[in-house]
Amino acid sequence: MNTPSRLRLGINIDHVATVRNARGGSTPDPARAAKLAQAAGADGITAHLREDRRHITDADIEKILDTIDIPLNFEMAATDEMQQIALRHLPHAVCIVPEKREERTTEGGLEVAREENRIAHFIAPLREAGCRVSIFIAADRRQIEAAARIGAPVVELHTGAYCDAHAEGRFEVRDAEFDKLKDMASLALDLGLEVHAGHGLTYDCVKPVAALPELLELNIGHFLIGEAIFSGLDSAIRRMRTIMDEARQESSGVSVA
Ligand code: PXP
Repeated sequence: MNTPSRLRLGINIDHVATVRNARGGSTPDPARAAKLAQAAGADGITAHLREDRRHITDADIEKILDTIDIPLNFEMAATDEMQQIALRHLPHAVCIVPEKREERTTEGGLEVAREENRIAHFIAPLREAGCRVSIFIAADRRQIEAAARIGAPVVELHTGAYCDAHAEGRFEVRDAEFDKLKDMASLALDLGLEVHAGHGLTYDCVKPVAALPELLELNIGHFLIGEAIFSGLDSAIRRMRTIMDEARQESSGVSVA
Protein backbone atom coordinates (compact mmCIF):
# COMPACT_ATOMS: atom_id res chain seq x y z
CA MET A 1 0.00 0.00 0.00
CA ASN A 2 1.06 3.63 -0.45
CA THR A 3 2.38 5.32 2.66
CA PRO A 4 0.18 8.27 3.65
CA SER A 5 2.36 11.36 3.64
CA ARG A 6 1.98 12.57 7.20
CA LEU A 7 1.73 10.65 10.43
CA ARG A 8 -0.08 12.54 13.19
CA LEU A 9 1.85 13.10 16.43
CA GLY A 10 -0.07 13.21 19.70
CA ILE A 11 1.92 14.48 22.66
CA ASN A 12 1.16 12.94 26.02
CA ILE A 13 1.70 15.55 28.75
CA ASP A 14 0.99 13.30 31.76
CA HIS A 15 4.53 13.45 33.05
CA VAL A 16 4.56 17.22 33.26
CA ALA A 17 1.79 16.64 35.81
CA THR A 18 3.84 13.90 37.50
CA VAL A 19 6.66 16.39 38.17
CA ARG A 20 4.21 19.01 39.42
CA ASN A 21 2.48 16.47 41.68
CA ALA A 22 5.81 15.45 43.24
CA ARG A 23 5.66 18.79 45.10
CA GLY A 24 1.92 19.28 45.15
CA GLY A 25 2.09 22.86 43.81
CA SER A 26 1.06 24.37 40.51
CA THR A 27 4.26 24.09 38.45
CA PRO A 28 5.14 22.83 35.90
CA ASP A 29 1.70 23.40 34.39
CA PRO A 30 0.49 20.66 31.98
CA ALA A 31 -1.69 23.19 30.10
CA ARG A 32 1.39 25.32 29.41
CA ALA A 33 3.16 22.22 28.09
CA ALA A 34 0.14 21.44 25.91
CA LYS A 35 0.24 24.94 24.43
CA LEU A 36 3.96 24.63 23.75
CA ALA A 37 3.44 21.21 22.17
CA GLN A 38 0.84 22.72 19.87
CA ALA A 39 3.27 25.48 18.87
CA ALA A 40 5.95 22.84 18.18
CA GLY A 41 3.69 21.07 15.70
CA ALA A 42 1.80 18.47 17.75
CA ASP A 43 -1.38 17.33 16.05
CA GLY A 44 -3.07 16.52 19.33
CA ILE A 45 -2.61 16.37 23.09
CA THR A 46 -3.04 13.13 24.99
CA ALA A 47 -3.68 12.97 28.72
CA HIS A 48 -4.64 10.11 31.03
CA LEU A 49 -6.93 10.88 33.95
CA ARG A 50 -6.12 7.98 36.24
CA GLU A 51 -8.42 6.82 38.99
CA ASP A 52 -5.77 7.86 41.57
CA ARG A 53 -5.09 11.19 39.75
CA ARG A 54 -1.34 10.56 39.81
CA HIS A 55 -0.92 12.43 36.50
CA ILE A 56 -3.40 15.09 35.41
CA THR A 57 -6.32 16.14 37.59
CA ASP A 58 -9.92 17.01 36.77
CA ALA A 59 -9.02 20.73 36.82
CA ASP A 60 -6.21 20.13 34.31
CA ILE A 61 -8.65 18.75 31.74
CA GLU A 62 -10.68 21.92 31.80
CA LYS A 63 -7.59 24.10 31.62
CA ILE A 64 -6.06 22.10 28.77
CA LEU A 65 -9.30 22.24 26.79
CA ASP A 66 -9.44 26.03 27.31
CA THR A 67 -5.80 26.41 26.24
CA ILE A 68 -5.37 24.33 23.08
CA ASP A 69 -6.88 24.54 19.59
CA ILE A 70 -5.80 21.01 18.62
CA PRO A 71 -7.76 17.88 19.59
CA LEU A 72 -7.56 16.36 23.07
CA ASN A 73 -7.25 12.58 23.22
CA PHE A 74 -8.56 11.71 26.68
CA GLU A 75 -7.18 8.40 27.97
CA MET A 76 -9.33 6.67 30.53
CA ALA A 77 -10.23 3.37 32.11
CA ALA A 78 -13.60 1.82 31.30
CA THR A 79 -15.30 2.94 34.52
CA ASP A 80 -18.58 4.79 35.13
CA GLU A 81 -16.72 7.69 36.74
CA MET A 82 -14.49 8.22 33.68
CA GLN A 83 -17.38 7.82 31.28
CA GLN A 84 -19.27 10.58 33.07
CA ILE A 85 -16.24 12.88 33.01
CA ALA A 86 -15.72 12.25 29.27
CA LEU A 87 -19.38 12.89 28.53
CA ARG A 88 -19.20 16.16 30.49
CA HIS A 89 -16.15 17.46 28.59
CA LEU A 90 -16.75 15.79 25.21
CA PRO A 91 -13.09 15.64 24.11
CA HIS A 92 -12.40 15.07 20.42
CA ALA A 93 -11.19 11.54 21.19
CA VAL A 94 -11.22 9.05 24.03
CA CYS A 95 -8.78 6.17 24.31
CA ILE A 96 -9.89 3.30 26.54
CA VAL A 97 -6.96 1.83 28.45
CA PRO A 98 -6.60 -0.86 31.11
CA GLU A 99 -5.69 0.49 34.52
CA LYS A 100 -4.20 -1.13 37.59
CA ARG A 101 -3.41 0.92 40.67
CA GLU A 102 -0.17 -0.95 41.39
CA GLU A 103 1.29 -0.50 37.89
CA ARG A 104 3.83 2.23 37.16
CA THR A 105 2.52 2.73 33.64
CA THR A 106 -0.09 1.17 31.36
CA GLU A 107 1.53 -2.26 31.21
CA GLY A 108 -0.53 -4.03 28.60
CA GLY A 109 -3.45 -3.57 26.28
CA LEU A 110 -7.12 -3.76 27.15
CA GLU A 111 -8.64 -7.29 27.36
CA VAL A 112 -11.42 -6.45 24.96
CA ALA A 113 -11.82 -10.05 23.66
CA ARG A 114 -12.87 -11.33 27.09
CA GLU A 115 -15.06 -8.31 27.84
CA GLU A 116 -16.63 -7.69 24.48
CA ASN A 117 -20.14 -7.03 25.75
CA ARG A 118 -19.13 -4.74 28.56
CA ILE A 119 -16.78 -2.66 26.41
CA ALA A 120 -19.33 -2.47 23.58
CA HIS A 121 -21.90 -1.03 26.01
CA PHE A 122 -19.31 1.23 27.57
CA ILE A 123 -18.25 2.90 24.32
CA ALA A 124 -21.75 3.25 22.84
CA PRO A 125 -22.70 6.52 24.63
CA LEU A 126 -19.27 7.99 23.95
CA ARG A 127 -19.64 7.28 20.24
CA GLU A 128 -23.18 8.65 20.23
CA ALA A 129 -21.87 11.83 21.87
CA GLY A 130 -19.44 12.26 18.96
CA CYS A 131 -16.15 11.23 20.60
CA ARG A 132 -13.74 9.27 18.41
CA VAL A 133 -13.28 6.08 20.43
CA SER A 134 -9.99 4.28 20.37
CA ILE A 135 -9.11 1.05 22.19
CA PHE A 136 -5.55 0.54 23.45
CA ILE A 137 -4.66 -3.09 22.76
CA ALA A 138 -1.74 -5.44 22.33
CA ALA A 139 -0.80 -6.36 18.77
CA ASP A 140 -2.86 -9.52 19.09
CA ARG A 141 -5.30 -10.95 16.56
CA ARG A 142 -7.98 -11.80 19.17
CA GLN A 143 -8.04 -8.28 20.53
CA ILE A 144 -8.12 -6.65 17.11
CA GLU A 145 -10.95 -8.83 15.88
CA ALA A 146 -12.89 -8.14 19.08
CA ALA A 147 -12.31 -4.38 18.73
CA ALA A 148 -13.68 -4.53 15.19
CA ARG A 149 -16.72 -6.56 16.30
CA ILE A 150 -17.70 -4.04 18.98
CA GLY A 151 -17.56 -1.22 16.44
CA ALA A 152 -14.57 0.69 17.81
CA PRO A 153 -13.46 2.97 14.96
CA VAL A 154 -9.82 3.15 16.11
CA VAL A 155 -7.29 0.85 17.77
CA GLU A 156 -4.02 2.00 19.29
CA LEU A 157 -1.38 -0.75 19.27
CA HIS A 158 0.80 -0.99 22.39
CA THR A 159 4.44 -0.59 21.30
CA GLY A 160 5.88 -1.12 24.81
CA ALA A 161 7.18 -4.67 24.31
CA TYR A 162 8.95 -3.65 21.07
CA CYS A 163 10.51 -0.54 22.68
CA ASP A 164 11.61 -2.35 25.86
CA ALA A 165 13.28 -5.12 23.86
CA HIS A 166 15.09 -2.50 21.77
CA ALA A 167 16.28 -0.57 24.84
CA GLU A 168 17.52 -3.76 26.51
CA GLY A 169 19.36 -4.97 23.40
CA ARG A 170 17.16 -8.07 23.00
CA PHE A 171 17.11 -7.65 19.25
CA GLU A 172 15.54 -10.99 18.31
CA VAL A 173 12.62 -10.28 20.60
CA ARG A 174 12.44 -6.72 19.32
CA ASP A 175 12.26 -7.91 15.72
CA ALA A 176 9.58 -10.47 16.58
CA GLU A 177 7.58 -7.77 18.39
CA PHE A 178 7.97 -5.46 15.42
CA ASP A 179 6.71 -8.17 13.05
CA LYS A 180 3.65 -8.56 15.26
CA LEU A 181 3.00 -4.80 15.13
CA LYS A 182 3.36 -4.84 11.37
CA ASP A 183 1.09 -7.83 10.78
CA MET A 184 -1.54 -6.68 13.26
CA ALA A 185 -1.58 -3.12 11.89
CA SER A 186 -2.30 -4.64 8.51
CA LEU A 187 -5.06 -6.89 9.90
CA ALA A 188 -6.66 -3.95 11.73
CA LEU A 189 -6.69 -1.87 8.57
CA ASP A 190 -8.21 -4.75 6.59
CA LEU A 191 -10.98 -4.93 9.20
CA GLY A 192 -11.73 -1.26 8.59
CA LEU A 193 -10.11 0.14 11.72
CA GLU A 194 -8.03 3.32 11.92
CA VAL A 195 -4.69 2.32 13.42
CA HIS A 196 -2.59 4.26 15.93
CA ALA A 197 0.39 3.20 18.03
CA GLY A 198 2.22 4.31 21.13
CA HIS A 199 3.99 3.64 24.42
CA GLY A 200 7.71 3.77 25.11
CA LEU A 201 8.71 5.30 21.77
CA THR A 202 12.05 7.15 21.64
CA TYR A 203 14.22 8.77 18.97
CA ASP A 204 16.07 5.44 18.75
CA CYS A 205 13.18 3.10 18.10
CA VAL A 206 10.46 5.22 16.53
CA LYS A 207 11.61 5.04 12.91
CA PRO A 208 10.46 1.53 11.86
CA VAL A 209 7.12 2.10 13.58
CA ALA A 210 6.64 5.50 11.92
CA ALA A 211 7.37 3.88 8.55
CA LEU A 212 4.44 1.45 8.86
CA PRO A 213 2.02 2.69 6.20
CA GLU A 214 -1.08 1.49 8.09
CA LEU A 215 -0.51 3.91 10.96
CA LEU A 216 -2.18 7.31 11.10
CA GLU A 217 -1.09 8.49 14.54
CA LEU A 218 1.59 7.98 17.19
CA ASN A 219 1.14 9.04 20.81
CA ILE A 220 4.37 9.80 22.64
CA GLY A 221 4.95 11.19 26.12
CA HIS A 222 7.44 10.02 28.72
CA PHE A 223 10.57 10.10 26.57
CA LEU A 224 9.83 13.57 25.17
CA ILE A 225 9.04 15.08 28.56
CA GLY A 226 12.36 13.64 29.78
CA GLU A 227 14.23 14.97 26.74
CA ALA A 228 12.68 18.39 27.37
CA ILE A 229 14.84 18.65 30.51
CA PHE A 230 17.92 18.68 28.29
CA SER A 231 16.82 20.34 25.08
CA GLY A 232 13.48 22.01 25.82
CA LEU A 233 10.05 20.69 24.89
CA ASP A 234 9.85 22.56 21.60
CA SER A 235 13.14 21.14 20.35
CA ALA A 236 12.35 17.60 21.59
CA ILE A 237 9.00 17.53 19.79
CA ARG A 238 10.44 19.02 16.59
CA ARG A 239 13.20 16.42 16.54
CA MET A 240 10.69 13.58 16.95
CA ARG A 241 8.55 15.11 14.19
CA THR A 242 11.57 15.22 11.87
CA ILE A 243 12.47 11.57 12.53
CA MET A 244 8.87 10.51 11.88
CA ASP A 245 8.71 12.52 8.66
CA GLU A 246 12.03 11.08 7.47
CA ALA A 247 10.80 7.54 8.17
CA ARG A 248 7.66 8.23 6.17
CA GLN A 249 9.60 9.82 3.35
CA GLU A 250 12.10 6.96 3.11
CA SER A 251 9.40 4.30 3.10
CA SER A 252 7.26 5.98 0.45
CA GLY A 253 10.03 7.45 -1.67
CA VAL A 254 8.17 10.77 -1.92
CA SER A 255 8.79 14.08 -0.20
CA VAL A 256 6.63 14.94 2.78
CA ALA A 257 4.52 18.08 2.53
N1 PXP B 1 -0.65 5.73 24.29
C1 PXP B 1 -1.30 5.25 25.38
C2 PXP B 1 -2.64 4.63 25.20
C3 PXP B 1 -0.72 5.35 26.67
O1 PXP B 1 -1.37 4.86 27.74
C4 PXP B 1 0.51 6.01 26.79
C5 PXP B 1 1.13 6.20 28.14
O2 PXP B 1 0.27 6.77 29.02
C6 PXP B 1 1.13 6.51 25.64
C7 PXP B 1 0.53 6.33 24.40
C8 PXP B 1 2.45 7.23 25.69
O3 PXP B 1 3.43 6.39 26.18
P1 PXP B 1 4.83 7.01 26.60
O4 PXP B 1 4.55 7.99 27.69
O5 PXP B 1 5.60 5.82 27.06
O6 PXP B 1 5.39 7.65 25.38
